[in-house]
Amino acid sequence: MVEVGEANGQRGRVLLVSNRLPVSITPNSEPLLVRPSPGGLATGLRSVHASGSSAWIGWPGVNTEPGPERERIERALPSNVVPVHFTSEEMTRFYDGIANGVIWPLFHYLLDRVPGDIRDWDAYESANQRFADAVAKEARPDDLIWVQDYHLLLLPALLRDRLPRARIGFFLHIPFPSSEVFRILPYREAVLQGLLGADLIGFHTFNDQRHFSAALLSVLGFDAELDRVEVEGRSVRLHVFPMGVDADGFAALAREPAILKASRELRAAHAADKLLLGIDRLDYTKGLTRKFLAIERLLERSPQYRSKIMLLQVAVPSRENVSAYRELKREIEEIAGRINGAHATLHSAPIHYVYDSVDQHELVASYTAADVMLVTPLRDGMNLVAKEYVASRVDGDGVLVLSEFAGAASELADALVVNPYDVAAIAGAIERALEMDEPERRRRMRRLREKVDARPVDLWASSFLSALKLEPTSLGPADLRRRPEQVLALADEMAERPELVFALDYDGTLVPISSTPDGAVPGAELLELLASLAACPGVKVAVVSGRTLESLARFVGDLPLALVAEHGVWSRQWGGDWIRHVEDLSHAWRAPVLAMLEEYCSRTPGSFVEQKTAGLAWHYRNADRQLGAARARELRLNLVQILARQPASVIGGRKVVEVRPQDTDKGVALKRLLADIPGDPTVVAMGDDRSDEELFRAAAPSPYTFAASVLPTHAHYRVDGPSAVRALLARFVERRRERAANGTAFPHLEGALT
Ligand code: UDP
Ligand code: G6P
Repeated sequence: MVEVGEANGQRGRVLLVSNRLPVSITPNSEPLLVRPSPGGLATGLRSVHASGSSAWIGWPGVNTEPGPERERIERALPSNVVPVHFTSEEMTRFYDGIANGVIWPLFHYLLDRVPGDIRDWDAYESANQRFADAVAKEARPDDLIWVQDYHLLLLPALLRDRLPRARIGFFLHIPFPSSEVFRILPYREAVLQGLLGADLIGFHTFNDQRHFSAALLSVLGFDAELDRVEVEGRSVRLHVFPMGVDADGFAALAREPAILKASRELRAAHAADKLLLGIDRLDYTKGLTRKFLAIERLLERSPQYRSKIMLLQVAVPSRENVSAYRELKREIEEIAGRINGAHATLHSAPIHYVYDSVDQHELVASYTAADVMLVTPLRDGMNLVAKEYVASRVDGDGVLVLSEFAGAASELADALVVNPYDVAAIAGAIERALEMDEPERRRRMRRLREKVDARPVDLWASSFLSALKLEPTSLGPADLRRRPEQVLALADEMAERPELVFALDYDGTLVPISSTPDGAVPGAELLELLASLAACPGVKVAVVSGRTLESLARFVGDLPLALVAEHGVWSRQWGGDWIRHVEDLSHAWRAPVLAMLEEYCSRTPGSFVEQKTAGLAWHYRNADRQLGAARARELRLNLVQILARQPASVIGGRKVVEVRPQDTDKGVALKRLLADIPGDPTVVAMGDDRSDEELFRAAAPSPYTFAASVLPTHAHYRVDGPSAVRALLARFVERRRERAANGTAFPHLEGALT
């Protein structure tokens, strides 16, 4: 078992923060009855909590008004548990209303369960604030804070405000839906901004992580990298940590004589030849209705199974105050009654339905007794029951039927994987499981067990905590926007370097962004500045642009500069001719992308398409601000998806969305220029948008990389637009000339100075 202190390798504790504590107090019990909480989150984290130095902050399962009752509850709870109290009214609005009434069904793709009129968001916000107060009060400087699940989506940012230096992790135990579904949520921006307060956000599957990144793009316009997103100079890491179970613990229980005896007794108590098992919280996401209908379908189709099979379905009571859960209970009890009425014999009934929780011994006895385990949720973050069944099958036998929409299906390919919406397919899978021969059952179970054994729950927790412990990799650029004197000091410092190459973006860096590409003409002052910079001893200047060759040549082609056009499709060395670096310009993606961009033009007044020799750009600077931004987010998402297998990249610039061939970028272009220069010059890179990030990376290890915008960047410094860039260059020229005039600084360049 993981030692929490060991996993995080530090003196601090882990503060686990979840809506539900690992134990819940039974309402109206006297004396107070404290019982283990139901559900995967509590079971998963309970072992983490038991094994090291941690405190768990959460709701104790019972609502109280402020007063002595709260103190009585505090006394009844274990010492390393910190209760966060709510009144019944607060819980009805926060937990029943938003968390379980809106977020739960929406994130599980069950849109018809989302109420027509969503209210109570203020209660969700206040509840998250209440948790933030409790955590801030409890936290010490060395603690790692680990926030759990969909009740607390706003908490990471609230904590970041209060504890700017804290290490904050978040894990989502339920699915993160496709961005098309997510954006139905009226409070979608708040949710994403809330989560981005964390340093590390964990998901069960790659699908969840991918959907989250797509939501960042489509809702906030943020470009996530594969595993991180830059937010205001902080790096928020995104990672997949599939949750596991205490495999050794289940295996050990499954070998206990008392449990084996209970398992035999369970089999003997029922006349059926084959025992099917279902263990689920009574929740509409768990697919109980269709599971029952599949049993009905099987019995109608193959009546020979009557009296031969029985489904033991344990439905664990859950969220009984929420009306959808009460209705579900009525509905499935009615279906079970109808099926039993139609297919029971004197000695048997096809469905044995138990509305209760079971303790761990009963649970493992049921797992070991069952020939077939039916786990058929319509959607599930992970589903630990499926893994617990496998972990308990130390006899190597048993068949798992598993929904393809459970997170566990991404790992457990040797289950019989079914579409839980397809009743006929579930019936078919059950029949296949019943008829499967022993060698195949054992082969599949062996491979399932290998998977489950390889990722126990303590590995899940320790991997998350180790990742959370890592230093944030990017602290963002030094912001010099209000420190012009420091900009000039850097120019002075650079002027001391013997040889330099300036790689300068054009639009937004040397000249302000103009409403059309042709409007950004350089004035005489800029031309003179570039000419004098290029004339400085030991200095070479390149303009590295996404512009077309034609417009770049027209604007700055007469100066003694190297030029890069179309992000590196074309380049001109110092004193050389234009060379094309992309062999074939007839890309298959071009025509459909052009058609799509034109479609966006017709839907977005003021926008237009710029056709380059290799790339295509959709400019929306002149469109209505909000409409343009919304269309741009949508367009980028569509392009990223349709171009996933094409040799093309999509980049969001400043008021432009651009598609360009994949094998070229400004970084590649800069390296090509540098390869032809002898020596080891210091590179100075300046840019303003996403396409300049490659330039900054290629400039490494140079400390002189400058972003002239407010966008997330890997540049070392942020400066205030083209005016600051020009001031820096002018100061550099001035200092360099002074040095040259003094004749002291660059003895090896003496020839060049005369
Ligand atoms: N479980 C429980 N009480 C029961 C039966 C089962 O707490 O009476 C446990 C079960 O062992 C499993 C968890 O509840 O660890 C259910 O987790 P799962 O991920 O399958 O679904 P969730 O309930 O979290 O949606
Ligand atoms: C799921 C959720 C958990 C929740 C559990 C039980 O596992 O992901 O956050 O605690 O269900 O639900 P409850 O509403 O009783 O806490």
